[in-house]
Amino acid sequence: MEQPTKYDLHAEKYSTIFLEKNQKATDIYHSQFDLDLANKKLLDLGCGDGHDLNTFSKRGASVYGIDASSSMVTLALQHTENKAEIKEAYFENVPFPDNFFDIVCSKYALQASPDMQPIFQEVNRVLKPGGSFIFLVGHPIYQFLEKRKHPKDYFLKEIIDVKIFDGQFEIREPTHTLSEYISSYFIRHFELNVYIEEAEDSIERINGDIYPAFLLIKSKKKF
Ligand SMILES: C[S@@+](CC[C@H](N)C(=O)[O-])C[C@H]1O[C@@H](n2cnc3c(N)ncnc32)[C@H](O)[C@@H]1O
Repeated sequence: MEQPTKYDLHAEKYSTIFLEKNQKATDIYHSQFDLDLANKKLLDLGCGDGHDLNTFSKRGASVYGIDASSSMVTLALQHTENKAEIKEAYFENVPFPDNFFDIVCSKYALQASPDMQPIFQEVNRVLKPGGSFIFLVGHPIYQFLEKRKHPKDYFLKEIIDVKIFDGQFEIREPTHTLSEYISSYFIRHFELNVYIEEAEDSIERINGDIYPAFLLIKSKKKF
């Protein structure tokens, strides 16, 4: 299987066009967090250029991030004015202790990994019991449409090329089914509180169809 996008080469470009183009997802995502995050330790998985961490830091959270791209980590440290602890690391091996965070979150990042199970295990490990796990990912339906061939197989894991931001940016990512996110592991360890799916203007239209571009899950680690 070909490798998903490496963000190192594109970090600056992604960062400059991201803010205006992802507004809807960002607003919905941010509305899932308390306005007052004082005394909360928050980890962003795939924090990218750190804009979300900056927002959460302004709401009072102690913010931490990981990202596989060293260029993104550099940008994130700049954007958070060194108030955040950000490490170059992978979702599957989170470099923080057990039961450390009140909130683990992620936006438009987890779908870049082929397998959710090791990520959910890490989230379950680093999150305190009762802590929040909030994530937004590219929707399996848009990934299905992006397979672009006939007949398509929803269940077959493939690497797709996706044009986002009016074609200004191309990413490659593995496809997922809905049941990979709401998996039996997830249901065993997390209580589902909010499920949202929405269209997003910045994703390329596929044959003029309207479809959910992202899904958001808000959950709590079970006691
Ligand atoms: C589309 S960007 C989203 C960044 C940010 N969350 C946002 O909303 O703008 C995805 C980010 O996830 C990071 N990433 C992808 N796969 C990763 C992995 N397995 N471990 C850590 N970071 C990863 C990429 O380097 C990139 O910065």
